[in-house]
Amino acid sequence: MKIRAGIIGVGCYLPSKRLTNADLEKMVDTTDEWITTRTGIKERRIASKNEAVSDLAIAAAKNALKDAKVKPEDLDLIIVATISPDMHFPSTACLVQKALGAKKALCFDVGAACAGFVYALSIAQQFIESGKTKKVLVIGAEMLSSITDWTDRNTCVLFGDGAGACVVTPVKRGGIISSYLGSDGSQSDLMMMPGGGSRHPASHQTINKKMHFIKMQGKELFKLAVNIMADAANKALKQAGLKCKDVDCVIPHQANIRILMAVAKKLGLPPEKIFLNIERYGNMSSASTATALCEAVRKGKIKKGDIVVLDAFGAGLVWGACVIRW
Ligand code: ACO
Repeated sequence: MKIRAGIIGVGCYLPSKRLTNADLEKMVDTTDEWITTRTGIKERRIASKNEAVSDLAIAAAKNALKDAKVKPEDLDLIIVATISPDMHFPSTACLVQKALGAKKALCFDVGAACAGFVYALSIAQQFIESGKTKKVLVIGAEMLSSITDWTDRNTCVLFGDGAGACVVTPVKRGGIISSYLGSDGSQSDLMMMPGGGSRHPASHQTINKKMHFIKMQGKELFKLAVNIMADAANKALKQAGLKCKDVDCVIPHQANIRILMAVAKKLGLPPEKIFLNIERYGNMSSASTATALCEAVRKGKIKKGDIVVLDAFGAGLVWGACVIRW
């Protein structure tokens, strides 16, 4: 009989410091009205000076392990999805392993921007279904504040910091029914952080040119995101033998409320079936889907037996959707 992977525990961590739209009005030429109507964001969380992304990831991981009643030493695999790691290497997953004492776990990071958590979950699913792996910790963690140009109003109003995690194991009932992933590298110019890699190693010049910050062509991404996210959800549902009407809750990547409402319309779903946390946290890349899943479970928006669709899109371009029977 086919082994099925399922989520048995969720957790999240949001730094306590809030940066509101009113705060941003004092930093750049913007207004609460512009940010709210164009994006749906009211405030975002910002990590403290002595925190790095692994600290956020570790806090979310502890939360998820407690929820799943799984001990760190029993983990076989840790996957961290992030585009804002503590450093290029070692992987953030290894730093999480060290902090948790998860001695027997295999560890690696996934770089799939805002779709990172969905990519990591799909990879975890395949490790479990292979029969070789029993307990996987999947984390989406970001400190986008560390790669945001706080003088650029086009981007700085959008991003925030946070982390979400889940524990994946073989399950007897429910679980991940299908997952669908896609990429289009021909659109890689639309969003990037150009500096600090081997193409443009850190130098005075890269710093002066602000190459260590997120660069984004928002308008182009907006149009692509709507079609791609709707298509990804439809493809994953088809693979699962389900229809949009069967869906109880969609956990989307939280880039822009207007994107999410347009996706809901394309899928023919009422807005209340789309779980939102963008108003409170902004876009946290891979951590958006991860924290939204945790909050939806904790708030009772997802109940046993529900059909849940995780749906994400990000820089690369990359995208993915997972269908889960909770
Ligand atoms: N405050 C006030 N005005 C602003 C601000 C701001 N913060 N930012 C931009 N503007 C101005 C622009 O300068 C422009 O002015 P102009 O007409 O005089 O030139 C005007 O507002 C309109 O700007 P647009 O860029 O056309 O605004 P748009 O409606 O497209 O909204 C946004 C911009 C919010 C970025 C939107 O395009 C978006 O959400 N895009 C998708 C982002 C996304 O999905 N990213 C990928 C996932 S994230 C990841 O992978 C980490």
